[in-house]
Amino acid sequence: MMNQLKETAAFLEAKGVNDPVFGIILGTGLGDVLNHISIIKTFDYSEIPHFPVSTVEFHKGKLVYGELNGIKLLVMQGRFHLYEGYSMQQITYPVRVMKLLGIQFLLMSNAAGGINKTFKKGDLVLIDDHINLQNGSPLTGPNIDELGPRFPDMSYPYSRELNQLLIKAASELNTTLKEGVYASVTGPNLETRAEYRYLHRIGADMVGMSTVPEVIVANHMSLPCAAVSVITDECDPDNLKPIDITEIIEVAGKADKKLAHLFLNMIADITRRSMNAI
Ligand code: HPA
Repeated sequence: MMNQLKETAAFLEAKGVNDPVFGIILGTGLGDVLNHISIIKTFDYSEIPHFPVSTVEFHKGKLVYGELNGIKLLVMQGRFHLYEGYSMQQITYPVRVMKLLGIQFLLMSNAAGGINKTFKKGDLVLIDDHINLQNGSPLTGPNIDELGPRFPDMSYPYSRELNQLLIKAASELNTTLKEGVYASVTGPNLETRAEYRYLHRIGADMVGMSTVPEVIVANHMSLPCAAVSVITDECDPDNLKPIDITEIIEVAGKADKKLAHLFLNMIADITRRSMNAI
């Protein structure tokens, strides 16, 4: 695995991907960040050696290398999901590659169902913690000591510093940013009423089919990460309406601008801070 990771990183470096500071993984229907950065180079996942290939037709599979205020970014438009049949190791492969390429921060977005009854469609929710219900970890199997320890700590899986900066960015933008616990499930089916009740009881505020594997791998490598959910449906078991994926994508699309501004404002803030520190 380590050799493959190095081959993939070397391929991208040879194509000009140098010194990215941020890695960004954009969730379903959430691509607006790309409209605000200068794009230097775009790679289809299918042309990157050892990358898994995205199969769900509405998930675009592109790795974009770009720049914002002189800072280099790597943006994944479309991620890999367990329900597509990939292993946890495949899903998290790009995160490891981005870390080898030098990213210092990982930002993620996703579409999620709102379990917390105060969450409404279109809300942005900062993930404060998670519950892994995906039945496994990307770290099973021999540990890659070069990347991190056998038993990584998960007491604060989402960087407290990055979360504070996202809260600050939201207040500067007059955007409401709620906070909550994200439960990850395998999917692709949505949940039953009994499952939504169960998720509520175990302390989940929202539920989705992604993000947690990437966060585990980031923590393994001591890569600070943060993630924001867009609430695309309200999962009230006593008043559950059937949802369809086109509606989820539509709701995500409406919140996309807000989310992009939040990320970009926060990246600009970190950039200013690091410039001042030099
Ligand atoms: N459940 C699981 N994943 C989701 C949901 C949901 O209700 N909404 C968006 N992604």
